[in-house]
Amino acid sequence: MRKIILAYSGGLDTSVIIHWLKKNMRAEVICLAANVGQGLKEIVSLKKRALKCGAAKIYLEDLREEFARDFIMPALQAGAIYEGEYYLSAALSRPLISKHLVKVARREKAEFVAHGCTGKGNDQVRFEVSIASLAPDIKVIAPVREWELKSREEEIDYAKRHRLSIKTTKKSPYSLDKNLWGVSIECGVLEDPWREPPEDIYQMTSSHLRGGPKGGPKKGEYIEIGFQKGIPVSINGRKLSLVRLIEEVNLRAGRHGIGRSDMVENRLVGIKSREIYEAPGASLLHQARRALEGLTLERELLHFKQGVALRYAELIYYGLWYSPLREALDKFVGETQKRVTGTVRIKMNKGNGIVCGRKSPYSLYSYELATYDKEDIFDQRLAKGFIELWGLPIKGFKK
Ligand code: ARG
Repeated sequence: MRKIILAYSGGLDTSVIIHWLKKNMRAEVICLAANVGQGLKEIVSLKKRALKCGAAKIYLEDLREEFARDFIMPALQAGAIYEGEYYLSAALSRPLISKHLVKVARREKAEFVAHGCTGKGNDQVRFEVSIASLAPDIKVIAPVREWELKSREEEIDYAKRHRLSIKTTKKSPYSLDKNLWGVSIECGVLEDPWREPPEDIYQMTSSHLRGGPKGGPKKGEYIEIGFQKGIPVSINGRKLSLVRLIEEVNLRAGRHGIGRSDMVENRLVGIKSREIYEAPGASLLHQARRALEGLTLERELLHFKQGVALRYAELIYYGLWYSPLREALDKFVGETQKRVTGTVRIKMNKGNGIVCGRKSPYSLYSYELATYDKEDIFDQRLAKGFIELWGLPIKGFKK
């Protein structure tokens, strides 16, 4: 019998997919439920649901550590942010989940994997391109692109007709994708880009700015983040594992309402879409690490790296994680991070994080060069000749 490994979230789509695949492909469906920090509260019920919908087996895998170490950290060190605002939470998880889909497929000797993405988004591209790169022999099935079920209601009808066990709690009208690195919120009223998002969509950040229900603290709070070679290792001097550290920054920055963004972004398939993101940890950690680079990286290296960051973010967004360019850029980024060790202090207050201190054993900051006090060692007379030659090529150009 054919075997299909399905990336299972526990939601309506992937639950219905189990049944649909069994029926239409005459296949055995084996689920992989990946914990990437989305808060899998009901692991037991998730497992039950998959089996009740007809899965032959389900693998539950805690991938948080691998996600943080092998996917989030390289993106953080590269400074990868898509179109200035998106920290790539969903985009980074897909190559990881793909890797594990392939792993399970090999173990189970399956030649198919399946996912629940629609044909309009980026995630389908990320899954399928990742899988093609890792295991070109494996075929991918995307039922949502093929089946006749046109709406959520039709899917619920299908589930009822076939007596499938689905989560009956009323689902929010939004499409959410959450993990350790942030949450994306789409659909419903958010599809009008002029309309302000209702406060109750937010999952990870307090709403005190608008006096919403989950009011944040009125007073500011300092946080000190310690880095080793571009990797965050401590909060306020306390060493933490990567996963714990990210979770804690999420909580602390989230309480202060930090890390929200509201953007219209360019999808790979050509559509512009309105996206709401919350990434309290990601935004604070990026900000802190950037501040440390400001202190420790030589000017030309820093500027060149900013261009690399844009490209790196595109590669992640475009589903090209497992590409030779990404691997080569990683080597470059790794080289730049050797000196990015030290501590950054940020003041968090009412939706804002503001860097207010940084220090490093590799600091390139020279007080004697920068100061206007009597310790000054900078020879100001040299500036005259420097300016003369610097401006020479455009001298008289606008006369
Ligand atoms: N627009 C974001 C991206 O392309 C978020 C996608 C979230 N995925 C989802 N299935 N809701 O990365």
